[in-house]
Amino acid sequence: SKKITIAIDGYSSTGKSTLAKQLAKELGYVYVDTGAMYRAVTYFAMQNGFISNDFFHKNELIVSLPNIKLHFEFNPELGFAEMYLNDVNVEKQIRTLEVSGFVSKIAEVSEVRAKLVEQQQAMGKDKGIVMDGRDIGTVVFPDAEVKIFMTASAETRAQRRFDELQAKGDNVTYEDVLKNVQERDYIDTHRADSPLVIADDAIEIDNSYLSKEEQFTAVLELIEEVI
Ligand code: C5P
Repeated sequence: SKKITIAIDGYSSTGKSTLAKQLAKELGYVYVDTGAMYRAVTYFAMQNGFISNDFFHKNELIVSLPNIKLHFEFNPELGFAEMYLNDVNVEKQIRTLEVSGFVSKIAEVSEVRAKLVEQQQAMGKDKGIVMDGRDIGTVVFPDAEVKIFMTASAETRAQRRFDELQAKGDNVTYEDVLKNVQERDYIDTHRADSPLVIADDAIEIDNSYLSKEEQFTAVLELIEEVI
């Protein structure tokens, strides 16, 4: 069977990465979490004082972009790749609510997007890739053979993210998580550069009432028609 490109886009916390990881494992494909890349840039900006008291020093970040080196490294114990920022594993640091609170602001910056999109396209040049994000089917790989667009109600998504953060021992409230999910949805769908929109040829999946297994089976069937 031929190798293809699978693009998975959608709102925050719709389970994109869960589905993408399942598919990559099943097909023997590479999985790339592009949200992790935007999160790593955000973490870099926080570490370097480019974000202070809600003020964002955008030009300083743009000037520093050449100093940001991102790469993924497969962790065989976990079964997926982890995010490295300047050769340091930042998986834990980038998943906090604090990073989630700034990341959509960082992702609005065209210079940031151009840098990350270029790297994403290079990673996918040989196909055999499952990539998730917000602009994968529209901007990064407009020719992807399979495009999925995932949605679920904001409350369902916030509850899932809240459960995840709680399980990690993060001290957050459901209300804060819901607020973050709604704020990111708003910024991601309204930004000028590469807003979150459904590609014309994407298949929309609302997983509010689908189990992970049902969703996986349905998408795998779609893929098997193509490969
Ligand atoms: O996927 P995740 O929720 O980790 O993404 C974090 C944020 O990164 C999103 O809310 C969005 O602002 C940004 N992002 C993006 N384009 C992508 C992936 C993520 O703008 N391809």
